[in-house]
Amino acid sequence: GFSWTLPDHPKLPKGKTVAVVVLDGWGEANADKYNCIHVAQTPVMDSLKNGAPERWRLVKAHGTAVGLPSDDDMGNSEVGHNALGAGRIYAQGAKLVDLALASGKIYDGEGFNYIKECFDKGTLHLIGLLSDGGVHSRLDQVQLLLKGASERGAKRIRVHILTDGRDVLDGSSVGFVETLENDLSQLREKGIDVQIASGGGRMYVTMDRYENDWDVVKRGWDAQVLGEAPYKFKSAVEAVKTLRAETKANDQYLPPFVIVDESGKSVGPVLDGDAVVTFNFRADRMVMLAKALEYADFDKFDRVRVPKIRYAGMLQYDGELKLPSHYLVSPPEIERTSGEYLVKNGIRTFACSETVKFGHVTFFWNGNRSGYFDETKEEYVEIPSDSGITFNVKPNMKALEIAEKARDAILSGKFDQVRVNLPNGDMVGHTGDIEATVIACKAADEAVKIILDAIEQVGGIYVVTADHGNAEDMVKRNKSGQPLLDKNGGIQILTSHTLQPVPVAIGGPGLHPGVRFRSDIQTPGLANVAATVMNFHGYEAPADYEPTLIELVDN
Ligand code: 3PG
Ligand code: CO
Repeated sequence: GFSWTLPDHPKLPKGKTVAVVVLDGWGEANADKYNCIHVAQTPVMDSLKNGAPERWRLVKAHGTAVGLPSDDDMGNSEVGHNALGAGRIYAQGAKLVDLALASGKIYDGEGFNYIKECFDKGTLHLIGLLSDGGVHSRLDQVQLLLKGASERGAKRIRVHILTDGRDVLDGSSVGFVETLENDLSQLREKGIDVQIASGGGRMYVTMDRYENDWDVVKRGWDAQVLGEAPYKFKSAVEAVKTLRAETKANDQYLPPFVIVDESGKSVGPVLDGDAVVTFNFRADRMVMLAKALEYADFDKFDRVRVPKIRYAGMLQYDGELKLPSHYLVSPPEIERTSGEYLVKNGIRTFACSETVKFGHVTFFWNGNRSGYFDETKEEYVEIPSDSGITFNVKPNMKALEIAEKARDAILSGKFDQVRVNLPNGDMVGHTGDIEATVIACKAADEAVKIILDAIEQVGGIYVVTADHGNAEDMVKRNKSGQPLLDKNGGIQILTSHTLQPVPVAIGGPGLHPGVRFRSDIQTPGLANVAATVMNFHGYEAPADYEPTLIELVDN
């Protein structure tokens, strides 16, 4: 029968303190001036890379290696941390939604049947991120859902868009809105009353995460549900173009707007009897809105009016909270994660990051599960992020504070595993500010030093890796790798993640001298890290885990 007990590793001892450091958005790429990691002073990461070749290597962090639909899909933190923590590759939300739409099964499920009840008398509202980034959502899935829902009885539909510019180029929002508008006009020709009803930039409207700033969600609520916003337009294309030009906001930060009719009335507030679908498949930035839409008791902001609706998520976003209770596609069933195994085998675990990445080293790491496995053996510490700023303003973020917490946890002797996420490369990389990203990379490197020094002191082991690329390439390139220019001759800044591999560095005084990376796994990915970490705690990984990256040689 099944047992949580892990087999002992035949050679590696128990009782070592293991630091697991995840540098968010830290990939490996050619050294040029758009590679902020290369430009920055990063002596610690450099020394790991240039140290023993059998203790530094690259692993895949994008595409099918992390359960995404194709190898053209860049990595992201959700799938990256899922793979790191779960030690296996799961078909992820993007892929599961693709399959459910392609087979039509999405329309047979409980979630769709639940919202369908409203189609006769109410409006169907679709809320989510409008781009082809494939990290939180995909435009082609929205297009299919619009078609499928209208063919199955939805007669009145309103789309509430969030513009991207973070997983895709800034400025691309206009094209995505035009594409959507074109689809909607074809649906109107078929007699469907369908319109874009509201919008706003994802980082300013709705898509906050880990409760960093509820005002973001409130701004969305006001526009989407109440039909109120500071800006009113007749069309969404006009809205996006005008707001970009006049407020100087980029796609990520467009202010909220509503679309109004001839009489100036919002065309799509959410009313009693309506159905709402949040079409993002990724959880972190939809959980807060899901709570506002679903919870009867809710005190995070004044909702003013709480319509009686039927609400479904594209996926269920939190398996522990069962939120939302209705969803169109079942999420990947990530179970038996390395975190759960290790805790059940007595490994005392400390995890820490700042708010904007806190759920990454806890919730995503543990297979999209919130909370502790065993409160007596785990401590998760969240350092409050600065809110209301873009992180290029403070590129050091809380790296130092996170590192100091990790150091203290290591030195305390109270923990066997100390795990952190250092957000700088990613969060500052997403701003597209190259100079700030260079500073961010330096700050992350300094944080790594603090943690490695503590590991040195206690005779422990470290694993330093990353969840996906970002800061190592800040320019959009053509197929042969040349930077692409915009209309004005400037470079096209790449705010998104990349397809690059990420480093895995291992070491520390506690690491058995015979440990080295195996050469017989040709293209390992992030999922191979979990078994490796289990080995360092003195255990063998379960048989169905992706194989460990290491082997032992006699010396
Ligand atoms: C975000 O949500 O900030 C971006 O879409 C992806 O970034 P992350 O995957 O690094 O969180
Ligand atoms: Co990111």
